[in-house]
Amino acid sequence: MKHVYLDHAATTPLDKRVLGAMKPYFSKKFGNAGSLHLFGQEAREAVEKARESIAKAINAKPEEIVFTSGGTESDNIALQGVMRANKGKGKGLVTSVFEHPAVLRTAEKLEKEGFEASYLPVTKQGFVELQEIKKFLKKETILASVMHANNEIGTIQPIEEIGKLCREKGILFHSDAVQTVGKERIDVEKMNIDLLSASAHKFYGPKGIGFLYAKQGTKIYPLMHGGGHENGLRSGTENVPGIVGMEKALEIAVKEMDEENEKLKKLRNKLIDGCLEIKNSWLNGVREPRLAANAALGFDFVEGESMILMLSDKGIAASTGSACSTKSLEPSHVLRAIGLPHVKCHGSLRFTLGRATTEKDIDYVLETLPGIVKRLREISPLGGK
Ligand SMILES: Cc1ncc(COP(=O)(O)O)c(C=O)c1O
Repeated sequence: MKHVYLDHAATTPLDKRVLGAMKPYFSKKFGNAGSLHLFGQEAREAVEKARESIAKAINAKPEEIVFTSGGTESDNIALQGVMRANKGKGKGLVTSVFEHPAVLRTAEKLEKEGFEASYLPVTKQGFVELQEIKKFLKKETILASVMHANNEIGTIQPIEEIGKLCREKGILFHSDAVQTVGKERIDVEKMNIDLLSASAHKFYGPKGIGFLYAKQGTKIYPLMHGGGHENGLRSGTENVPGIVGMEKALEIAVKEMDEENEKLKKLRNKLIDGCLEIKNSWLNGVREPRLAANAALGFDFVEGESMILMLSDKGIAASTGSACSTKSLEPSHVLRAIGLPHVKCHGSLRFTLGRATTEKDIDYVLETLPGIVKRLREISPLGGK
């Protein structure tokens, strides 16, 4: 059976070139980067070289990069670490209603500690609005956290302008850029970002490794205590193969970004246009500005999960939204945030294309999907026959 993987927003396959770069660090070059001897020095050199190269990719300084276990941890350190360290200023955290759970659940945890979180609404098109943000930013606000691109609908937020507003008011600004690092150009200086989260497995690197950018001088407390690694911000022996893999993955992603995005956009638009030929269907979020690989669609009178399973039977991997919420019966908070009624949220289907996606793959989906939607509508209690 043909296999077509269109769930790259959940995770990407490890690039062979990345695996090649990592391999020596599992065996011959196994040293602990904290050890003083030659084995340790070899590992330390690799870690610091990676830090430099990753920093350069986002126009940061090496000492502003903290290695973490991925996006969730980076978001947690950014929010909890910054809010707790800056308590003296006030209690306020501003974020948006359609952030990833790594931000939303952390904001809720902080509320339980006595901090005050407020949640920016988003438009039907899938954007936070500058006018709204202006209203939300108060003197007591410590931190604002707005994601760069939404993981379900792919809309890209006006980060530079949001950062500017925060800077003018002396408010720290964090962006969860897990879906954009390696896919969109990031310049933390130009974009007025104080803190940024990234995760390697979203850009063809290994799972379980990511980084947090924290602008020099940002007051931040660690979550993890121990040997004082990563400038005291993230104790724990460094994951050297992971760090080396993330460096290589980002280097490749940045180099190939323009060409890849051009290819992806063409394929994505073909997929969107083809899907929209199925009647009673729509695109969630506007087409631009949107991640080149994201096609988030909706179909009336069908259940997203049923579509996923039937597509999977035909070898096609897609998702209803984020991988984290597939087990929950609750409609996606992102789709609710853009104003879709409950019943429409259930018919969502997200395709996210990737480096290896071909036109043949898209043709195969477009041959397969209409029959699945038709079949499901025939047996649907919701109507649409
Ligand atoms: C926007 C966003 N933030 C955070 C995360 C969590 O990243 P990780 O899987 O590396 O913990 C994800 C993963 O799907 C994401 O899409």
